[in-house]
Amino acid sequence: MNDDILKVLYSTAEINAIIKRLAGEIKRDYARKNPLVVCILKGAIMFTTDLVRAIDDYCEIDFMDVSSYGDATESSGEVKIIKDLDTSVKGRDVLIVEDIVDTGRTLSYLMKLFKTRDANSVKICTLMDKTERRVVEVHADYVGTTVPNEFVVGYGLDYAERYRNLPYIGVLRPTVYEN
Ligand code: XMP
Ligand code: MG
Repeated sequence: MNDDILKVLYSTAEINAIIKRLAGEIKRDYARKNPLVVCILKGAIMFTTDLVRAIDDYCEIDFMDVSSYGDATESSGEVKIIKDLDTSVKGRDVLIVEDIVDTGRTLSYLMKLFKTRDANSVKICTLMDKTERRVVEVHADYVGTTVPNEFVVGYGLDYAERYRNLPYIGVLRPTVYEN
């Protein structure tokens, strides 16, 4: 295991089991709807690619990059579009795929944005929900798992752009970001 990881929260096998369950729910709810799956870069890359393969049904995929964190572990409070979608969401059933809901600011912003752009429906699928940290109310329709208020990395999630490639989700040793 990587030396900077204090403990593993979810192993690859546990992540796969969560994804299998979520994919089943999504496949059932979106049958014949050809949803537009919106992957929120970069944290949700691993989750999205595994999820859409598990869904194994019609869907389109697009990517959006928004900033709320920078290199720190604290949210700045403002959401900025770094890269917008290539696809129009007008009339589409949009499924936002996110790695983790923290304060809720990012998803609250994106929900409003896609509704303003006349999406037919907008739903949220998040791998993790850090409910304790919520500042803005946001409802995630598909939640993989609720996590405690600890900084997690791996499986797409980073600290200062590192650890995204870890195949598991772990808690970072506080010494890594304290000094
Ligand atoms: P908000 O606060 O808008 O933030 O809900 C969601 C984004 O914050 C990032 N985030 C984390 N990233 N480990 C990470 O690597 C964490 O524990 C963590 N908590 C929040 C993440 O990018 C998410 O998209
Ligand atoms: Mg993110």
